[in-house]
Order: sequence, then structure tokens, then C-alpha cells
Amino acid sequence: MGRVAELAGVSVRTLHHYDEIGLLEPSTRTAAGHRAYSADDVERLREVLAYRRLGFGLREIAELVDDPATDAVAHLCRLRGLLMDQRDRAAAMVTAIDRELEARAMGIRTTPEEQLKVFGARLYDAIGSAYPATRRTEPRIAARIWDALGDAQTVLNVGAGTGSYEPPDRDVTAVEPSAVMRAQRPPGAAPCVAAAAESLPFEDQSFDAAMAVSTVHHWPDPVAGLRELRRVARRVVVFTYDADDTGWRQRFWLTRDYLPEFADLLVGWPSLADLTRAIGGRAEPVLVPWDCADGFFEAYWRRPEAYLDEHVRRAVSVWTRVGPQAEQRAVSTLREDLSSGRWAERNRDLVALDTAELGLRLLVA
Ligand SMILES: C[S@@+](CC[C@H](N)C(=O)[O-])C[C@H]1O[C@@H](n2cnc3c(N)ncnc32)[C@H](O)[C@@H]1O
Repeated sequence: MGRVAELAGVSVRTLHHYDEIGLLEPSTRTAAGHRAYSADDVERLREVLAYRRLGFGLREIAELVDDPATDAVAHLCRLRGLLMDQRDRAAAMVTAIDRELEARAMGIRTTPEEQLKVFGARLYDAIGSAYPATRRTEPRIAARIWDALGDAQTVLNVGAGTGSYEPPDRDVTAVEPSAVMRAQRPPGAAPCVAAAAESLPFEDQSFDAAMAVSTVHHWPDPVAGLRELRRVARRVVVFTYDADDTGWRQRFWLTRDYLPEFADLLVGWPSLADLTRAIGGRAEPVLVPWDCADGFFEAYWRRPEAYLDEHVRRAVSVWTRVGPQAEQRAVSTLREDLSSGRWAERNRDLVALDTAELGLRLLVA
């Protein structure tokens, strides 16, 4: 035990504790009859310590390492993904802090918006590379957006990402602040300007229409951004969600039963009325089809197994924002409920539905 503790850089007391709580029990004996760690035990210890270092609690770790569906390779892949995310997030924050230090050294105070940017576009610099795996055009939602654009010929797409909802038959200009997202725009995509919604580098009324899809909730100041869209275009179309209607959060089993932390992300978020007022428009519900092609947060409401897939989660910022502990707890509870039949029992009614009202809205002005 002493040798293993020394190699792993933990105290013998820690190993005793893991043994006592059943997290890691040495499974073999030495010739002298002392308990010893087998190669499998050491492998398990490595997983325990790695999850520990990522901030998981011992109970959560026990669930993770006891899961029979996850072998050593799957654990390594998951750990690698979590560590890369953490590294990318840390790198993005270091860059932001360096900028602020530089600005302060020159006597410039950064604005509250600038200080918060690290959680907006910078978040996409950190998670953006996972985006194209599951985020693509959902044709039924695209049809609604394109219809709402009316006869607009020149269209500004703000927070454009990889351009999933850009209409192919109009003259599109994209705006995207994240370098990682800009770099992933497909060849031949519309020209893309590096800018943020809150300060668009265009003259008043320079486009027939401006659109913003699944992006407003990332802007440090959504109302200011929407006013900018209104300023530069005659028509505005925004695909977003209604944060103040708690009804759909209660209806959606994922936020209700597994990820209540989602509610914390909405604190301070403007009401739907504030958003529609900012563009002077109206809000229409958008139902989510059961086989939605765009893997946004609510997309898999009738395909719960999808949320167990790391790729699905990495392409949705909610999972990064709630943090690894809430994420792993939600996923392991969901996994258990799916295998025990509890999820199916609780959500029996969903099988008969082809669409769901989960608070998504199209704002049109
Ligand atoms: C979920 S993605 C949506 C991308 C695309 N509209 C789509 O539907 O696939 C959100 C995008 O908003 C961008 N974003 C973040 N803060 C922004 C801001 N202040 N102004 C404009 N875009 C922003 C992110 O960089 C990211 O590309």
C-alpha cells in the first residue's frame, strides 16, 4: 500500500479511506499475507484520482467507476475530453485576464460587458470545435426562419456560427465573434465579419433583414444586441427561447428530473417581453420535432439515450456551463433510469407525440 501511495502521490491514509468506503479495495494478497493492489486495482485508482482532480465527489466517482457499461478505454476517453475542455476553458480565461491586465496597466477600465465576454464568445472559442458533430440545419425550423425573412434579399446573420440556418438563395453576410467558429465555416459559406451583436459595424438600415439563431442567450447584453439588429435591418428574425415560462422547464424531463441547475443559468435573463420589445415584434412558438436534426439542448426530448453521448453534450453550451459535477450526476442518474425502466415509466406519454412545446420561440419584427 505504501508503495502504491508513493507512486500515486497520495497518502496511505487516503488509500485506507478509499478501502473503508468500498471505493477501492486491494484485491490480492502478498506471499506474506498482506493485502495488495492488483493491476486492475491500480487502473481503478488512476481513474478515481483523475476524476477527483477534476472536482468530482467520492460518491459520484464510485458511480462512475462502478458503471459496468464503461470500460477502461471509455474512462480514458471521457477523462481526456473533460481535461481538454478544462484546459481550453482555462486557456481562454488566461487570455481574457491577460487582456484585462494589459488594459488596466494602461489605465483603461474594462466595461462589465467586456468582463463577461469570457463566458460568451470565449466560451465558443473553448467548446466550438465540438459543435459540428451534431449541430446542423433542421429543415422544418429553417423553413420557418426563411419564411419569416419574407422577400429580404440582403440578410445579416448575427452569431452565425458555422452558418447552419443561412438561406442559400439570398445575399448573406455573417457576423461571428469566435475565431474557432469562424474557422469552421464550410468553404463557400457567406463572408463572415468578426464582431459582436452589441456593436455591429454597419450603417443604419443597411440590410433588408437581420437574423440571429440560437445565439441571443450567449450575448452579454441581449437587449442591446437586438436593438443593434433592429438598427441595421428593416426586418428582424430571432430564434430563441422563453426563459421566464417555467412551464416548459417543468414539462421537459431533462431539466425537471436531471438538470435542475439549468434554472440557475437563466437568472437575470431578460423576459420574452423584453426581447420582443427590443425589436418591436411578436413571438411565435416553435415546436421541436421528435427527430430534430439540429442537436440543440432540447432536441432529443424523445430520444433520451442521446444525452448519454459525450459528443451530443459537448456541442451544447448548457452542459459546459452547469459544470462537470452537475453534468456527470445528471448523466449517471439518467443512465440508471433508462436501464431500470424508470425513465420510460415516468415519460410514457412522450412516445405518442411527434412534436413538443419546449419554450422555443421565433421573434419576428
Ligand atoms: C449555439 S451557437 C449558434 C450558431 C448558429 N447561429 C447556429 O444556429 O448554428 C451560438 C453562437 O453565438 C456566438 N456569440 C457569442 N457571443 C456573441 C455576441 N456577443 N454576439 C454575436 N454572437 C455571439 C458564439 O460564438 C456562437 O457561435
